[in-house]
Amino acid sequence: MVTRGANFKLSDKLREIKPIIWQKDKIAFLDQSKLPWKEEYLVCHNYKEVAEAIRSMKVRGAPAIGVAAALGIALGILKSKKKTTLQLFNELEVMVKVFKETRPTAVNLFWAVDKMKKKGLSFLNFTPKNFKKFLIEEALNIFNEDIETNKKIGKLGIQLIDDNDTVLTHCNTGALATGGYGTALGIIRYAWKKGKKVFVFVTETRPLLQGARLTTWELKKENIPFSLITDNMAGYLMRKKEIKKVLVGADRIAANGDVANKIGTYTLAILAKEHSLPFYIAAPTSSIDLNLDSGEEIPIEERSSVEVTHLAGQQIAPDGIGVRNPSFDVTPHRYISAIITEKGIVYPPFKLNLAKVKNS
Ligand code: MRU
Repeated sequence: MVTRGANFKLSDKLREIKPIIWQKDKIAFLDQSKLPWKEEYLVCHNYKEVAEAIRSMKVRGAPAIGVAAALGIALGILKSKKKTTLQLFNELEVMVKVFKETRPTAVNLFWAVDKMKKKGLSFLNFTPKNFKKFLIEEALNIFNEDIETNKKIGKLGIQLIDDNDTVLTHCNTGALATGGYGTALGIIRYAWKKGKKVFVFVTETRPLLQGARLTTWELKKENIPFSLITDNMAGYLMRKKEIKKVLVGADRIAANGDVANKIGTYTLAILAKEHSLPFYIAAPTSSIDLNLDSGEEIPIEERSSVEVTHLAGQQIAPDGIGVRNPSFDVTPHRYISAIITEKGIVYPPFKLNLAKVKNS
């Protein structure tokens, strides 16, 4: 049964955001559906609860759902009553399938669960006790490496941020969207920490308001200056030269450099091009999917119409109307100036350079 843990409550003064906490026989997720109104942890006691937390976006953001799924599998294996290693592996395969059916677009989730399965296969000759132990270690490695990866992205990305820059960001790419620290927001966080004066424009990101609810919450904690804008204000502010560059994350990057990210990213990329502004993507190499030639092949999640007809639980449209709710869009690579990964900044030609960085 899912429980809500008051004992995990964050102090207002605590700057370091811990979106995911492995608790040996349970996992606590800072419930992102409740922010910024409540800082409350959702405690999952088995892998099915973790899968549901991903599906219902209590935990969200491409790297974060990869970490959550890996830890979810570790939890499932830990709690399994199976007697032999082969039986444990068979159960792991069932879990992998369950997690793969939670959300389709972010490749990090598929990357993380496939990594767990591959490790499981390599541990088939181990005792059941060691099979469990080493799979938990692998999930914790995925978790810790994600935080380190983000810090590397921050350190590399800072060279693209000037003093007194004004940067527009979309959705939430911060600590909440990852194991910790953040990708695009991690670069902003690092630039600020290093003394660069940066001002951030945060799009609200309808329908689920990840910008308004989550990115502003993170920036406020760090005292980084920002203005929240509605999604339709970006063009006006670019024309007024108030925005100097755009920096966003990615859910999946195809081999040719096309990028799937939160719905509205494509529109921002076209606006940036029209106003001759750099348009940057920040993402770990685990977001690169060399199996897909172009963005056309990336599966785009369609979510419930209620997310569009309702705002913070309040109905804002008449009953019985037609609604579309694609949760992501694809930005063609020609609109992208550079992709910042933990292994280097990738410039066009993306087809050549993404393969190099992914395989390095
Ligand atoms: O639907 P969400 O909130 O999971 O979508 C998240 C995004 O689109 C982020 O921009 C992306 O995952 C990058 S997070 C570092």
